[in-house]
Amino acid sequence: MEMRLTRSHQARLDMVEGLKVFIGSNMMPEVRREFDAWRDRTKPSETELRDRKFMANHLERDPLYQASRGLQRLSQEAMWREVIAGLESRRPEIEATLELPIDAPGSLSLNPDLEMPHYYDSNEFHLQPGNFHRDDLAGVIYELGVATYTMHRYGSAGDEMGRALVSVLPKKDYRRILYIGCGPAYKAYPVADAFPDAEFHAIDLGAPMLKFARHRAAEHNRPIHFKQMNGEATDYPDGYFDLVFCKLLLHEVPTKAVVNCVNEAHRILAPGGVFANLELPSYDSLDPLSAYLMDWDTLHNGEPYWRAYHEMDLLGAYRDAGFEAELIEAHSEWGGAKGNYMGRFAYHVSMGQKPGAD
Ligand SMILES: C[S@@+](CC[C@H](N)C(=O)[O-])C[C@H]1O[C@@H](n2cnc3c(N)ncnc32)[C@H](O)[C@@H]1O
Repeated sequence: MEMRLTRSHQARLDMVEGLKVFIGSNMMPEVRREFDAWRDRTKPSETELRDRKFMANHLERDPLYQASRGLQRLSQEAMWREVIAGLESRRPEIEATLELPIDAPGSLSLNPDLEMPHYYDSNEFHLQPGNFHRDDLAGVIYELGVATYTMHRYGSAGDEMGRALVSVLPKKDYRRILYIGCGPAYKAYPVADAFPDAEFHAIDLGAPMLKFARHRAAEHNRPIHFKQMNGEATDYPDGYFDLVFCKLLLHEVPTKAVVNCVNEAHRILAPGGVFANLELPSYDSLDPLSAYLMDWDTLHNGEPYWRAYHEMDLLGAYRDAGFEAELIEAHSEWGGAKGNYMGRFAYHVSMGQKPGAD
């Protein structure tokens, strides 16, 4: 599928990416230097540094911090605007392509009657206009936007999180795998590639995401079975899968829905099955400034559940569901990349194993 933007919009999008790189590589190290100097001078306690009000009282008055956050918001809005405007002249052609029947291994099953949860229908995650389900091109828009959002630092194929996940998954003979909240799905191709004999299923709430994901998977010879379902309550029978995983999903749903997803994963896993969830690190594993900066997304980047997710007792929810649970760190290329304001970090993979036969 032809996904190029018009030249002028691509040029403007490149400029937006340049702005993001500038914020991350030039402004944020300066914010950090000033912050470190202030901390060394005033010697606040660790408890104070972990207190959002205390941190806000210092940082929110700092003109450099204010400028960096203002530009971050502006760059995010400009990014989506340029992607959407740059696709507009090709919209009818792309929409028609997405509707074409696909003659390739794998499948797509949509459910127009599926109820969208309020937390999903009422928000625009990362400020993406129309969220993941209201614009027919949401999947294409997401893929192009996220590449800029992450400054092309999630691996050349955008799949470094998938590789990170594979590196920590228990080596088992998985026969059926489910990816919950798959979005365009490409970031998890490494999981499909690592277990080529397994039947690979993927679900999402957003029909436009799934149409695009199916199209893209067929183009890239990945025989994935896509279905429109809610990860909180799927239609799969008990014990159907050997591996259920998600990435960058659970921080986008309220705590109650996180718990529902964990319980549902437990229900549809066979005894001995694995549930793996990959996310950015929890606040308490980051230094106080990085944690405070990361929390900014909760209020200003369309991530209303970000804070609650990063502070909840997720492994406790796993154990309550019946899993044996542990937190595993997975190497992150992004976590060492220049321009990443959080310094070095590893992905957090909450790994659950359903007790029973292997
Ligand atoms: C931030 S995107 C991540 C997509 C993909 N996992 C990735 O890493 O590129 C979150 C995805 O989860 C989907 N989603 C959100 N809530 C969901 C739910 N309750 N059930 C299934 N999918 C959900 C969204 O439609 C979106 O495609």
